[in-house]
Amino acid sequence: MRLNSPQINLITKACMKASRSLIRDFGEIENLQVSSKGPGDFVTSADKRTEKILLEELQKAHPDYGVITEETGIINKSNTKNRWIIDPIDGTFNFMNGIPQFAISIGYEEDNEIKCGVIFNPIMNELFCAEKGNGAYLNNSRIRVSNKKNIKDALIVTGGPKGSSKIKDKIFSEYINVSNNVSNVRKFGSAALDVAYVACGRFDGYWQRELNYWDIAAGIIILKEAGGYVDFFEEDKNLPLKKNILASNSIIHEELRDLINK
Ligand code: IPD
Ligand code: CA
Ligand code: CA
Repeated sequence: MRLNSPQINLITKACMKASRSLIRDFGEIENLQVSSKGPGDFVTSADKRTEKILLEELQKAHPDYGVITEETGIINKSNTKNRWIIDPIDGTFNFMNGIPQFAISIGYEEDNEIKCGVIFNPIMNELFCAEKGNGAYLNNSRIRVSNKKNIKDALIVTGGPKGSSKIKDKIFSEYINVSNNVSNVRKFGSAALDVAYVACGRFDGYWQRELNYWDIAAGIIILKEAGGYVDFFEEDKNLPLKKNILASNSIIHEELRDLINK
């Protein structure tokens, strides 16, 4: 693997360390402490422990860096030059149900641009990573998006709506539109892995509303470096951490957008 920035090395090391207790917790999910953050939105003792280990590792090296995390919030708010974006477990609901489709996701930003990122599924032992200008990898192999040209043949992934969503009908009608015009649509329950799977060609495209930036920050650079295209729609300037994402192999991007806008 030809990724060697200090930041990617640091993120990878932190992920490896945090994943040890995460794997243990996954083997004993009956002992997990779970609390509810809202309808269908949970946090477990494993989310908190994983985030704590990641923060300790990253802050040991750079106590001054800004951090945006799902469970702790914003740290060192004034530093927007160097910033970690952390989701300790993306796919908590899968995790709690013993489904091995979840990941640690960490992106690194410089001047508001994602420079590198890691998405690690510790149960499948799949580590997706990328660095600007140096390509995207799954473990030690270079990855690329699919070359599917016809949207009718495409396998698309999506997620949501959240239990608390106020736009469920809109999301369901988009789902119907897309389903009627592609080969199939899947819902796997981890936004980070959904993007990573587009990056390595398992899916041809992905869209989802009402995400948070930490769900997909690392995925942005992994997908771009794998030759894919990602953009955001209906952005709200007052809520910069809320994201509606459209990600694809780039070839079917406009057609997928048209289906969502229909
Ligand atoms: C969730 C997952 C899921 C998506 C939800 C996210 P969490 O993240 O990414 O796929 O549909 O919108 O909140 O809560 O498991 O970190
Ligand atoms: Ca998440
Ligand atoms: Ca999470």
